[in-house]
Amino acid sequence: MRVVPAAPRRIHDFVPIRKLHFFLSNVLFFAYNQGFVCRCQAKRQLVEGSMLSLAWQIRDYLNRKGLIISEGIHMARDKITIVGAGRVGATAAHIAATKHLGDIVMLDIVEGLAEGKALDIAEAGPIELYDSAVSGTCDWTKTEDSNIVIITSGLPRKPGMSRDDLLAKNVRIVKDVSQKIARYSPNSIVIVVCNPLDAMVYTAAKVTDFARNKVMGMAGALDSARFSYFLASELGVSVEDIKCVLMGGHGDDMVPLPRFTSVSGIPVTELLDEGKIAELIERTRKGGIEIVNLLGYSAYYAPAAGAVKMAEAILRDKKTVVSCCAYCDSEYDAGGHFVGVPVVLGKNGVEKIVELDLNESEKAQFEKSLAHVKQLALKVDKLL
Ligand code: LAC
Repeated sequence: MRVVPAAPRRIHDFVPIRKLHFFLSNVLFFAYNQGFVCRCQAKRQLVEGSMLSLAWQIRDYLNRKGLIISEGIHMARDKITIVGAGRVGATAAHIAATKHLGDIVMLDIVEGLAEGKALDIAEAGPIELYDSAVSGTCDWTKTEDSNIVIITSGLPRKPGMSRDDLLAKNVRIVKDVSQKIARYSPNSIVIVVCNPLDAMVYTAAKVTDFARNKVMGMAGALDSARFSYFLASELGVSVEDIKCVLMGGHGDDMVPLPRFTSVSGIPVTELLDEGKIAELIERTRKGGIEIVNLLGYSAYYAPAAGAVKMAEAILRDKKTVVSCCAYCDSEYDAGGHFVGVPVVLGKNGVEKIVELDLNESEKAQFEKSLAHVKQLALKVDKLL
């Protein structure tokens, strides 16, 4: 019997081209209706692109959204360790699982806590359709060779406390955790979430001695989200349309930048008067304590979402522009400090600091906030 080798086959060999177009138009229509494809992208592609390239765009978009998990960039499972199985840690683990970011190890010193929460999250998998391995442990060896470690351990604020009140206790915790990270996951990228944020990032960087682009803190994503939410509510528009930049330390002197904030490209300064913007900035600065006063403990849904957004940008090499606490030397004349600035996040961690041309008032606000961050770093030096 003669075996004829199969000719290479393309999609056109299976589906007549007209049917293919019909099928893809329907895919597009469905994706568009579901809000999966942004409107301008869909329109531009409809006019310019071939239907096939459009299908790839859709596939790529769904893939990036974590909606296609069986092929492409998600084949290899990344390993994410979340230190601390409290409210922020467990919520981050759940969000990371729903986004199919990788296998998740939650670690906590309290016996049974991480294990119990991990099991609960894993048991939601069959309902929410994620199949990441989610495990909990007290044993650092189980975290070995993580790609990303998110530090959420540390004491949270209670009513009447400032973030700085947590410094001495949390330096001790973050120091211990950072030593373990350096030992068990020396090639990981570290995202710090505990407070006082900028000082804790400094602690983790100093103790791990990792490259400066591989240690960062989650605050800007949270503070920008709060500012965006307040703006969207005030304007009666979708939060998706707000893009904002926020700088400085994660404290009451953080610096939201209305000049660099837009609503689908329209500067927010065109849409709201100065007084209203100042009011929303003040609410953003006090956003953390507003939640503490309502709950009696710290926020966790939005902080966890912010940390996972950063992990996703890194693991999927998205080159996301986001504000985060990053190492700045000559940038913004920070002189070798970790402080909130807009950055590009990709597979190498902080790949670039975006330097904005700040005006005098913005510069003054940033310098004031930076001075506070520097003071806390000096205190950390004494505690380490
Ligand atoms: C907040 C805490 C997480 O701002 O710092 O809610």
